[in-house]
Amino acid sequence: MRDMTNEPVSLPAALASFTEQWSPRIVTTVNDYDVRVTHVEGEHLWHVHDDTDEFFLVLEGELRISLREPGGERTVTLPKGSVFTVPRGTEHKPYAPVPTEILLLEPTGTSTVGDRHEEVPDHVDATTGHALTSR
Ligand code: NI
Repeated sequence: MRDMTNEPVSLPAALASFTEQWSPRIVTTVNDYDVRVTHVEGEHLWHVHDDTDEFFLVLEGELRISLREPGGERTVTLPKGSVFTVPRGTEHKPYAPVPTEILLLEPTGTSTVGDRHEEVPDHVDATTGHALTSR
């Protein structure tokens, strides 16, 4: 998306502009990557990105990410201020035990539900990210 403003973007203002959960807004781009923010709470779903890593930064709240790795399943906990990268090809399922705000960094066009996923629940938006101006 190259129609972005060249002005600074306030993340608190961006997050205040929408209320949907698991529904990322694209706040800027870096080369061919989107920087996205979203509110999250409750469970996302098991999915996998075959061709890209996925970067998470917790801005507020707490995010847990379950991972299915060759050695078995584990869950990492990301308190506010933590970062974590899910490697490409690793099945993962994010979960937020409290109202949480996260920032994601991933290639433009990356689907929130990955290339393969289980059934998408109603409270999860399957999207490649929305423009911030759709408020
Ligand atoms: Ni993912």
